[in-house]
Parts: sequence; C-alpha cells; structure tokens
Amino acid sequence: MTNLAQWLAAQPVDPKLASVVATMAAASAEIAAVLRLAPIAGQTGLAGHTNVQGEAQKALDVISNDIVLNHIGENPAISILVSEELDEAVHFENQGGFMVATDPLDGSSNLDVNVTVGTIFSVLDAAGGLLQKGSAQLAAGYAAYGPATSLVLTFGQSVAVFTLDAAGQFVLTLDQVRVAVSSGEYAINTARERFWDAATKGYVDENVAGETGPAGKRYNMRWVGSMVADIHRILMRGGIFMYPLDSETVSKGGRLRLLYEANPMALIVEAAGGGATTGRERILELLPTGIHQRVPVILGSAEEVARVEGWYAKG
Ligand code: AHG
Ligand code: MN
Ligand code: MN
Repeated sequence: MTNLAQWLAAQPVDPKLASVVATMAAASAEIAAVLRLAPIAGQTGLAGHTNVQGEAQKALDVISNDIVLNHIGENPAISILVSEELDEAVHFENQGGFMVATDPLDGSSNLDVNVTVGTIFSVLDAAGGLLQKGSAQLAAGYAAYGPATSLVLTFGQSVAVFTLDAAGQFVLTLDQVRVAVSSGEYAINTARERFWDAATKGYVDENVAGETGPAGKRYNMRWVGSMVADIHRILMRGGIFMYPLDSETVSKGGRLRLLYEANPMALIVEAAGGGATTGRERILELLPTGIHQRVPVILGSAEEVARVEGWYAKG
C-alpha cells in the first residue's frame, strides 16, 4: 500500500510544492473528522453572517475555513491564501513561494441532510500574483466527504485518488484515472430551465429525447448539488457537469467561482482526459479579473463537452 507521503515523495515536483498539497490533505482529514461528528457537537445551521458573495455562511463553512487557515499558517511555503469565505486574500509574512485558493466547504446546502460535501483547492506560484490563468496552476485537488473520504490530486499530468483510513492516513486507491470519453449521464439544475440559453436548452433537449433524438442514445440525469460530488462521479464513471451562464446569473458572470471551483476542477478533469469550458472558451485560459470572479462551468467527458461546444458555436 502506498500512502500519501510516499506518493508525494515519488512525484517529480519541488518538495515545497508537495508540502503544500500535504498541508491541504491534512486540513481535509481534520475537516472530515469534524463533519463526521458535527450533528453531535451541535455544529450545524447558520453562522449568522454572510460572506463577500452575499451567501449565508453555515457554521461548518466558518469552521472549515478556520481549519484550512490554521494548517496553512503552519507551512512557511505558503505565502498567500484566497478563500471563498474570506473577502480579501491573506498574505503571510514568510518567503514561501506558493499561493493556495480554496473553497473550504463546497456544497454546504447538503450539510444538514448528510449528503456528500467537499473541499476544493488550487496551488499557484505566488510570484504570479492573485489573478493568474488556470493553466498556471501547479497542483489542484479536492476532498469528497462521502461514505468514504476521497482525496483527488493532480500536478497537471495525471490524477490520483486516495482514501482516508481509520488512522487518519490517505492511502492511494486509484492512479492514472481517466474520464470516460463518452457517457450517458448529465448533471444540471433543471429547475433553472426557464433561464437557459439556446445552447444549453438544445443540448439538454437532445439528451431528454434519448434514443429517439439526434444523440441516438438514452441519457440519465444526476445532480447532487455539491460540485465536488458531481465531479467525483464524473471522474469515476463519466458524464458532464453544467452550471452554464443563464439569464439570471449573467449579471454575475455565472454561479461558480473561477479561482477555487472552476480552475482546480478544470485542471483535474483535463489531466484525466476530459474537457472544461465555459461553452465558448477553455476555462484554464480565462484571465481572472477578481479573486471571487464567477464563470460558467461545463466539464466532463470529452464527447459530451464537444457537443455542448458545438451548440455554442451555432450562435
Ligand atoms: P458552495 O456550497 O461552496 O456555495 O457551492 C455550491 C455550489 C456547487 O457545489 C453546486 O454545484 C452548486 O452550488 C449548486 O447550485 P444550486 O443551488 O443551483 O443547485
Ligand atoms: Mn462551492
Ligand atoms: Mn463553499
């Protein structure tokens, strides 16, 4: 069995970069432990304030953010932290060369119903500043807190999956993961149909028509409502995840955040052979304009992503 420390030591990367990933893994293991007992500890419900994006923070959003902050503060290789839950970037007084952008707890609307949530993170060279293209990411990962806690990591070339054991160690359980090129599953919040653009509606209508339509095969829809859980399913068995630009989110630029949701997931999915686009542009090529910028997100199996891009190319 290979554990995370052994695997990291074998990667052809700067040991300091590996230490940043190890720090986020340690934070994730602690968050997993807190989540498991949160209903007993009374750590449920709202925290009573809103974050910079006007969203009500849950107690566990704040607790998870504090856990990440504590772990990062102990690693002198990290000099900048961007978090969904912090209005401004945090700059640490050290010579560390790395920046971390994180969504400490993704899918928090699923917390009170005991459905999978996660932690997402992106690692960049701090010298590049806060607003770098996703293609500049040095590493990315997420933890999915489900029946098992999975940790998914990439340094941009391949994707490895670890599982948290009872002793709090991450054990390598899958390596060189590939996203199935084709799939019969799609994930989109269909309650938003009245806001959709023609491309989204065109693609989903084809899927709903199944074997009687131009797609020529039957589709199933799956939507967990935690991006981490939806992406993890796609990594394991293929599919496409869509949170496109629609008439309601257009003024904000989209729903999901570029630095700590779209970019890390795009790096992971592309490293596994899938596609990641706004519909019109590759997510990893977007130049951010703000640390909490939102973007349209369409990612997963290459053939499905290409079909959506084909719809966008029509108009
Ligand atoms: P967060 O909990 O960090 O705010 O993110 C939730 C995101 C993402 O996980 C999910 O795909 C999406 O919001 C769900 O959106 P709907 O509420 O429209 O279903
Ligand atoms: Mn999120
Ligand atoms: Mn979050």
